This record gives sequence, C-alpha cells and structure tokens, in this order.
Amino acid sequence: MASEKPQDLVVTCTAPVNIAVIKYWGKRDEALILPINSSLSVTLHQDQLKTITTAAISKDFTEDRIWLNGQEEDVGQPRLQACLREIRRLARKRRSSGDGDALPLSLSYKVHVASENNFPTAAGLASSAAGYACLAYTLARVYGVEGDLSEVARRGSGSACRSLYGGFVEWQMGEQADGKDSIARQIAPEWHWPQLRVLILVVSAEKKPMGSTVGMQTSVETSTLLKFRAESIVPERMKEMTRCIQERDFQAFAQLTMKDSNQFHATCLDTFPPISYLNDTSRRIIQLVHCFNTHHGQTKVAYTFDAGPNAVVFTLDDTVAEFVAAVRHSFPPATNGDKFLKGLPVTPVLLSDELKAALALEPSPGAVQYIIATQVGPGPQVLDNSHAHLLGPDGLPQQDP
Ligand code: DP6
Repeated sequence: MASEKPQDLVVTCTAPVNIAVIKYWGKRDEALILPINSSLSVTLHQDQLKTITTAAISKDFTEDRIWLNGQEEDVGQPRLQACLREIRRLARKRRSSGDGDALPLSLSYKVHVASENNFPTAAGLASSAAGYACLAYTLARVYGVEGDLSEVARRGSGSACRSLYGGFVEWQMGEQADGKDSIARQIAPEWHWPQLRVLILVVSAEKKPMGSTVGMQTSVETSTLLKFRAESIVPERMKEMTRCIQERDFQAFAQLTMKDSNQFHATCLDTFPPISYLNDTSRRIIQLVHCFNTHHGQTKVAYTFDAGPNAVVFTLDDTVAEFVAAVRHSFPPATNGDKFLKGLPVTPVLLSDELKAALALEPSPGAVQYIIATQVGPGPQVLDNSHAHLLGPDGLPQQDP
C-alpha cells in the first residue's frame, strides 16, 4: 500500500451504493446532518456498482486537492471540508490518546484524493452515498483512524453512513444534539438472504430533479405529513422491517418497501411548492409491479424510488427471469436489445399469454433505458494491489491505472 517514500502513504478503497427501504428524508440539524427519522437500507454489490477512491498524503503536497471522475473539483466545498476536518480531528484524538504512535506521517501533510464510479453518473443513480463512504473509509486508512466512521461519512451526505457496511444497515437517528449517537449499524450481513435480487430500472429522465438536500429542507419546512411520518410511522416501520429481514419474510418486506417509498413520495407532494421525482415511466413501473403481483396472487416483486425517476426493484432469484421478461414486454428496448440487461446474467424466458394479458399496459418503447441486475453485497474494501491506485507517484491522477 505504501509508496516509495516511507513518509508518504497512498491507499485505494472501494465502497458500495445503498438503497433505502425505509427512507431518510429531513434533517433536524443541517450542519451536522442529523436526520428527523431512522432509516434502513440494503447495500448493493460492488461487482455492479461501486466508487473507487485513492487518497495520498505527502510532505511535498502544498494543498488539499480532489479529482472526481478525472475532473479536478473545488476542495473548499463545505461538505468535503467537514469530512476532512472530522477525520483529522479523529486522527489527532487517537494520537493524543497514545494509540497512533506508530504512524509515520504528519497530520499537517496535505492530502490528494481521486475518486471514480464504475457506473455512469449520467444514469442519475445516486453516487454521493458511495462517494462519501469511500472517502471516509479511505481517509481513515490513510490517517490511521479506526472504529465507526458514521460521523465522517454522514457529514458528506446523510445516506453515505449506510454505505459503510455490507448487507442490511440501519442508520439510527440518535437523540443527542452533537450527533454522537446518530450512527449506522449492520443488522444482517450480506450472506444473510442469498436469494434476494435487485434490479435497477434506469429510466430516461427529461430533466434533472431537485436535489435531495434542498428537497428535504423544503419538506421539513412545509410538510405536516413528513412530521407525522417521522414521529409516528417510521419508529414502528423500522422494527417491522428489521423483523422482515431477520426472518427473510419476502412478502412483508416487499409490501413495506413499496409503502415506504410511496409515503416518501407522498411527503414530496405534501411539500409546498410540491416536489415530484416520479415520472410517467416510474408510474408505469409501479403499475407493472402491482399487475405482476396480482397475477401471481402474491407479492413477488417490490419497487422503491429515491429522489429521481429510476426504479429499484427487489425480488427473489426464482422470479428474476420472468419479471425481466415482463419489463422487456412493457418497455421494449429502443435500439439496444442486446445491451438492455447489464450485471448478473439472467436466462431469457417467454411470458405466458395470461401474464401478458394481465400486464394490461400499452408498451412504451425505450422508456426504460436498461436494467442492471445485482444483489446484496459487502461493505467497503481496501485494494491491496498498487496498480489500482488512481493517483500516480507524483500525486496526480493516472491516465490509465
Ligand atoms: C431519497 O443522503 O442524498 O435517497 O444528507 O442532504 O446529502 P443529504 O441527502 P441524501 O438523501 C437521500 C435521500 C433518499 C432516501 C435515502 O437514501 O434514505
């Protein structure tokens, strides 16, 4: 992991995307990024979606610098600064308590960071959670910080603290004003529910939706439904969702996932002026899922939507092929028939005439751009291979690492 010069250090790590099944929406403290309710998410597998980040420190660097997907960005951005400040504070604390004596580096060294996603940001898939989790995890390795990093990741983006763990993760809202008890915790590991599959339906977005940060701020200010949800609905739902996961109760898990997504979008509509993240295709997907489930007489598939029109669908391995065929039937690929499905392989199947009739939808060609098939995955990882570094020995981005 270490570069040639012993006083310098370079570390490369990867971190996953997570998708909430009990949604976080609304802060009680904007600066510390403390939520008004707890939330729960599923960590997606990094074989399909991940952020890779290299951080290097050196006495030769004259300033902190960051490159995202090859472009240098403003390192003065407040949330980035908050993460850097927080990790250096933890490193200092560790050192003064005598735990970090072995560290050869100086805390005053400047850091260079390069970060990339292995999936197109243009697809509108949330990348800030994986990005900030990866930043927190990588900086922690560079600065020799151990223990929970919720606070560091959270300061970048609230949902990022959930990407620090694999499997099924809760973010406990906490009660303290300083946020010390607002932390992420794994409730079940990635191997807990091996049959669970995740399909991301990438929908063509006409325009960029309002970002989560501003959206949830307006919701907190104006939506009485959001207040009711946070105080009276989510606490029970957190318990019920934890039970569903622990007992691998797919039907209950699926129904609660859909209800919570719908309630989150209802709070967006209750925001004034109203916010809408779903588009016509999102609504057609919702209809498709319900028709599919009704046809089977049981809840075999669930959808959830974040602050954008893409759908994330949960199902079990025995249902993936048939549901993918149903999506293909309802949203025939425009020109990319062969590249319509990415990620885990899915054996093509033919839809029965009964199911086709039950779907009762006029096909919308091209409305779903493509599907990424994935599953539950592990948390952040350190890459030991020095060829993986995104920064060269000079501390600048490598062209082709
Ligand atoms: C709808 O974590 O992106 O995806 O804390 O302001 O950075 P900030 O917001 P962010 O919000 C995510 C909202 C959501 C639901 C969720 O992931 O829980």
